Amino acid sequence: MSKVRNQLLRLLLEKKSDYLSGEEISRLLGISRAAIWKQIEELRKEGYQIEAKQRSGYRLVYRPDRVAPEEIYPHLQTRHFGKTIRFSFSTPSTQILAHEWAREGAEEGAVVIAEEQTAGKGRLGRSWHSPPGTGIWMSLVLRPSIPIQAASHLTLLASLGVKEGIEAQVPVPITIKWPNDLLIRGKKVCGILTEMRGDLDAIDYVILGIGINVNLSKEIFPEELQKKATSLMIEAGKHIHRASLVASILKCLEDRYQQYLAEGFAPIREKWEQASQLVGKTITAHTFQGSVNGVVLGMNEHGALLIQTENGVVPIYSADLDLAASV
Ligand code: BTN
Repeated sequence: MSKVRNQLLRLLLEKKSDYLSGEEISRLLGISRAAIWKQIEELRKEGYQIEAKQRSGYRLVYRPDRVAPEEIYPHLQTRHFGKTIRFSFSTPSTQILAHEWAREGAEEGAVVIAEEQTAGKGRLGRSWHSPPGTGIWMSLVLRPSIPIQAASHLTLLASLGVKEGIEAQVPVPITIKWPNDLLIRGKKVCGILTEMRGDLDAIDYVILGIGINVNLSKEIFPEELQKKATSLMIEAGKHIHRASLVASILKCLEDRYQQYLAEGFAPIREKWEQASQLVGKTITAHTFQGSVNGVVLGMNEHGALLIQTENGVVPIYSADLDLAASV
């Protein structure tokens, strides 16, 4: 997206419902009337409705629901998260872009966000359905000074932060399915993918990939997902403003991250156990080594789920949980 396009849109947004004269735009951006007109036409193609009136200038009358930086920044209340955002209309995966950016030196809190992913990545090599204009598909760069063994804490604090960020904006009850799926009435509404680079001594960077089904209608989900997945719009019964939701999530994520760096994992673990509503439930954990059936006791200090089985307590570090047996 061109720099001039972004500058012009920012000027129109700042004016709110007032007119911005062509002369003023020309002066502020140093471009000709013809160039202004070209940019106005480009914005219109993107779905912005811009009124042009002789002697008054241009006025923004409708903004499409976009997760572009200029829509997110006015809502942002963070210190670092989301202060720099790279936005794409369509990309294979925001994870790929975030890795590239992190390798080039992106600072902590940098965000990559897209309207659409054509090859969205899920956990355990799965794909992530990311249709255009409907969800939040974003990746956040973190550079924590923690040992590599503690990286699983980040996944757990992320699920808590994202849950809190959604609940601050949308009146829906969300539960966390270990390690980091967010569910509404048992159906998945958000998934988190944590990837990192580093060596045994230290983490270089972590990419937290967050996928949230926001304004997807039932028919947009592929048939195989319709029974298992849901969206915030389906559950809340109304369209959700995605840019303010992104800002709310970044704020809650940053708060939980700062708390973790200052106080360690214990307060996160306690909050996570309450929010997950898993403790005391009978579940089956499908691990690479086989299935483990038992009652959830809680989580240990490494973020592993503790399951009371007939043969004693088993810590689960990685698994797909089956809650069918839960009561
Ligand atoms: C899961 O399997 O539950 C994790 C899904 C993570 C999806 C998000 S969408 C933004 C980021 N980019 C990707 O390709 N994946 C993550």
